[in-house]
Amino acid sequence: MEGQQQEKQVTGYLLFSLGTAVIGSLQFGYNTGVINAPEQKLRSFFNDTWVERYGEPISPGVCTIVWSVAVAIFSVGGMVGSFSVGVMANRFGRRRSMFLVNCLAVIGGLLMGFSTICSSYEMVIAGRLVIGLFCGLFTGLTPMYVGEVSPTPLRGAFGTLHQLGVVVGILIAQVFGLESLLGSAKLWPLLLALTVAPAILQCILLPFCPESPRFLLINLKQEEQARKALVRLRGSEDVSKDLQEMKEESAKMAMEKKVTILELFRSASYRQPLLIAVMLQLSQQLSGINAVFYYSTGIFESAGVKKPIYATIGAGVVNTIFTVVSLFLVEKAGRRSLHLLGLGGMAISALLMTISLLLKTLPGMSYVAITAVMLFVAMFELGPGPIPWFIVAELFSQGPRPAAMAVAGCCNWTANFLVGMSFPKLEVRLCGPWVFLIFMAFLILFFIFTFIKVPETRGKTFDEIARSFGGAPPPTSSSIEDPPATASAATTLPASPVKE
Ligand code: GLC
Repeated sequence: MEGQQQEKQVTGYLLFSLGTAVIGSLQFGYNTGVINAPEQKLRSFFNDTWVERYGEPISPGVCTIVWSVAVAIFSVGGMVGSFSVGVMANRFGRRRSMFLVNCLAVIGGLLMGFSTICSSYEMVIAGRLVIGLFCGLFTGLTPMYVGEVSPTPLRGAFGTLHQLGVVVGILIAQVFGLESLLGSAKLWPLLLALTVAPAILQCILLPFCPESPRFLLINLKQEEQARKALVRLRGSEDVSKDLQEMKEESAKMAMEKKVTILELFRSASYRQPLLIAVMLQLSQQLSGINAVFYYSTGIFESAGVKKPIYATIGAGVVNTIFTVVSLFLVEKAGRRSLHLLGLGGMAISALLMTISLLLKTLPGMSYVAITAVMLFVAMFELGPGPIPWFIVAELFSQGPRPAAMAVAGCCNWTANFLVGMSFPKLEVRLCGPWVFLIFMAFLILFFIFTFIKVPETRGKTFDEIARSFGGAPPPTSSSIEDPPATASAATTLPASPVKE
């Protein structure tokens, strides 16, 4: 019976809606990975433009600055975009926000795509900034939408779909970036502009997806619309359980009012989940994963690997496989254990990587380096990759959720920016092969934090999770004390299914 109900909950329509939302994650991954391969082509384009304008070649120092800005400005856009997600999601709703945000992909893609025709490297930089904004917004919107439309028992598995979209996006970018495909001196603008295509596709598909029933019911008070959306998503007329859960949350929300970012920081009842959300985001980025994804080709090269680009693609494949593994494990093993396993495994891999870089002159060490990187990536995808993205939506109820996603997303992007900017300097100037020990230290720290502070959220409703942090916001205590069966005062829908 239980299994039957769960089966029913996964409908083609739900999968279609999730698939459509996850195009946003794919975009984030694609634009993260796309800049790695064509580095040399872009550098020579900067030089050509410089020669055309000033009649002399660009100096190596200036070229590196232009290059670093083009890479890093993506994260700056991401910080701003992710921070704006709360305002957008509350104002336009989840679905319409996703639709509107795609304009940015079109603008950014075209700017980069036409940069060579216009002989302007500034257009690449501007394009990367706009694309960063776009991706920042999606790193909030997709997990929020996915968390809100998924049935509780499968929220973790579906939450992992965001990360799956990201890793598939990275892999596509790595493959398309091969010189024989779009990574050539002529075609790289097309490689960067390709992000326009999924944006258009998503805009075509979104009108067929439902708005998040939680947004309809809790924010807009449109019960009937919410019920209709749920009936289609769950493939069953009996959606009373879902509705009941939302209405309890809604009852609290009525007293709780919308939570701004400032209130999120002020209220004592949000302090604990906020700390956990932020620390988990930091654990994801300060693990050093993007040192690998932005610079893996260089890392493999310095470890003596002959064809580093293929090792990089190999890392992308491992990345994808282990995200799928996590998808199947997360509802069985739980978020907490997988996160711990991932962090611990990454720490060991970081140590292995350091050893292989230190002893690279020994025969066979390049294989150890490859194995260490693959293990590092695999462990990342078991927990620290997917979990932080969706757990924020789980840790907060509807009221504070958008603000919390904004804060968490912004921390993630800031840490991403810091690692991206500092890794080359750390590696080249300061610590050489010892660099991964810094990440190892962070990993151990986050392991201890997770062990002590992070609760298991598997199988719990949003409301139960909020309560586990010493209760939801203060004025609502009486309404949450009511057990679901007695239907609180704000519950106006009959408990039995309403047939149309
Ligand atoms: C996560 C991170 C992202 C990283 C990716 C690698 O989504 O947020 O920064 O590049 O995983 O798979």
